[in-house]
Amino acid sequence: METIKIGLLGFGNVGTGTYKTLEMNRKHIEANTGLSIEISKILVNDINRKRDIKVSSDQFTQNIDDILLDPSIDIVVELLGGIEPASTYMLKALKNGKHVVTANKAAVAANFDDFMDAAKRNQVMFRYEASVGGGIPILNALTTALLANEFEEILGIVNGTTNYILTQMTEYGLDYADVLKTAQEKGFAEADPTADVEGIDVANKLSILISLVFGIRVPPEEIPTEGITSISKNDIRLADQFGYKIKLLATAKKAGKQLEAHVQPAFVPKSHPLAAVSNEFNAVFAAGNAVDDLMFYGKGAGPMPTGSAVMGDVIEISKAIAKGAAFDHYSESKAVKMLKFVGEGQNKYYVSMMVKDVPGVLGSISTTFGAFGIGVDSVLQLSKDANSDREVPLIFILHEVTRARLDEALDKISKSKFASEIKSVIRVM
Ligand code: HSE
Repeated sequence: METIKIGLLGFGNVGTGTYKTLEMNRKHIEANTGLSIEISKILVNDINRKRDIKVSSDQFTQNIDDILLDPSIDIVVELLGGIEPASTYMLKALKNGKHVVTANKAAVAANFDDFMDAAKRNQVMFRYEASVGGGIPILNALTTALLANEFEEILGIVNGTTNYILTQMTEYGLDYADVLKTAQEKGFAEADPTADVEGIDVANKLSILISLVFGIRVPPEEIPTEGITSISKNDIRLADQFGYKIKLLATAKKAGKQLEAHVQPAFVPKSHPLAAVSNEFNAVFAAGNAVDDLMFYGKGAGPMPTGSAVMGDVIEISKAIAKGAAFDHYSESKAVKMLKFVGEGQNKYYVSMMVKDVPGVLGSISTTFGAFGIGVDSVLQLSKDANSDREVPLIFILHEVTRARLDEALDKISKSKFASEIKSVIRVM
């Protein structure tokens, strides 16, 4: 049986999950592929660290060149995380004629073109299924089984941490800060949760999806991105009253020759399948012009689901090596659509503000929206609560408008004598 040799960079959660996936299903993989896949070297920081997995210490190395310069290693699997040194190691591996598999969305999104060029130039494969949606085989599906479709829109809940936090806030009526603390204690959120809660992780994943689906390259830092830190339990309660759930959404959609994309918390109608995606689960919703609506659902993180996606890429490459055809990879869409990226576009919005409880306030604020060409879809004024001195919450759902135009109108309203504070502005799907 032909043996394919792997060099693993990193042996944390995903590294051990990948190792365990291979060991758990080794016989099944061998029977299906006719190949033996062997993890021959593993790059670690600390060889003597205690691990809950039995691995011979001969497999460990602290020297990256033991893997990158070893001619017997066919595939380098990068699971270090972070842009550097992971990107440098992967580029070096590709230049040395090694195939590369990674779960690293930050590195793929930051250096997409460099990886593609290096893979093409060196006639090797570069695969990154685990970088978007963890165990969900979304990149595979979009670039193989769904190639007969053009996509108008792609929507995703692609961050487990923030979806867990929003779900817990919704189910138990809790504040963001309290849920974050519990999530950190339970290991659902990192000690430094910035990349997750500020939407940076989602922007990286959306940038990768856009390259594959729409054939244009939009670096993550150019995608308008907002996280969940300012979502309050009141916003969630009001969303519920209006018939919505709040989700952190990655959105990319065509509008003629333009592509709109953003990462923002959004009111998702309860009837939409994405509203039912709870806790650490991820989902990607895509509308193809032949297949119609599709939703991919599964675990977007965790050692074994991510290990499953990593091993899927390893097996695809191993099979291609055995056939002597290992040169393709998930390339950016080859049918470049000549789309122009325009950022946010127009959206419906929920706006909540505190206003003085005096005659004429509702009319005045609606008139200001009207003067900016912004239509009101629905409005709700809550009764004064016992502690507030003649101030009441006023909530609007507004018709489609650009965020810039809405901000101008809100600036004018907040300077008027009626409104004391604009509390929240959230997109409505
Ligand atoms: N931090 C990510 C999440 C891990 O919470 O979904 C998977 O990319």
